[in-house]
Amino acid sequence: MSGETHDIHIAEPSTSDGSELWRIARDSRTLDLNSSYAYLLWCRDFADTSAIAWRAGRPVGFVIGFVRPTEPETVVVWQIAVDGDQRGLGVAGRLLDHLLDRLAPRGVRHLETTISPGNDASIALFQALARRRGADLRRAGLFAPAHFPDDHEAEDLYRIGPLVPARERVPA
Ligand SMILES: CC(C)(COP(=O)(O)OP(=O)(O)OC[C@H]1O[C@@H](n2cnc3c(N)ncnc32)[C@H](O)[C@@H]1OP(=O)(O)O)[C@@H](O)C(=O)NCCC(=O)NCCS
Repeated sequence: MSGETHDIHIAEPSTSDGSELWRIARDSRTLDLNSSYAYLLWCRDFADTSAIAWRAGRPVGFVIGFVRPTEPETVVVWQIAVDGDQRGLGVAGRLLDHLLDRLAPRGVRHLETTISPGNDASIALFQALARRRGADLRRAGLFAPAHFPDDHEAEDLYRIGPLVPARERVPA
């Protein structure tokens, strides 16, 4: 499934997109950079819970996630990033909307993600999503620095929901 909004094209990624996901994650300088292999494998096996955004034929952003094995109504957004020169244009918001609309028929009604306390752009992104969808947003501690074997910031858990399917949403 794919979606077109203005000049942004959003679609499920394929294995051949894995290297671009890795590049965008690397260039973000904010995300934990996984191995290139991890992005290829994710595009192969978790494409249905992930999306890539293209502008003028160029990949400019992605979101990767999974449905919680123990909680099939919840999608966990693992990473989302947009190229630096494409930020502030609504690309990340559209990636999330695309993903949630695609997963709604499967009964996904909640979104979880983790964010480090200082990542204001990411916090604003998910706050805006909750507002747009008329959903509650709750924050709780999840991973403290002491949980990590390396020098890693805390990761707070953000849970958004219940999400209203697009056809029931009242325009803002
Ligand atoms: C977080 C990130 C994905 C946002 O991408 P984006 O395409 O610029 O976001 P959008 O343009 O869709 O903005 C979504 C909302 O967040 C707000 N926002 C975005 N960047 C912001 C910033 N730096 N400061 C404050 N608010 C910001 C926007 O105003 C918008 O809110 P609104 O709808 O109320 O106007 C991008 O900054 C990024 O790639 N950061 C590096 C990677 C990262 O930290 N990923 C998240 C952790 S997994």
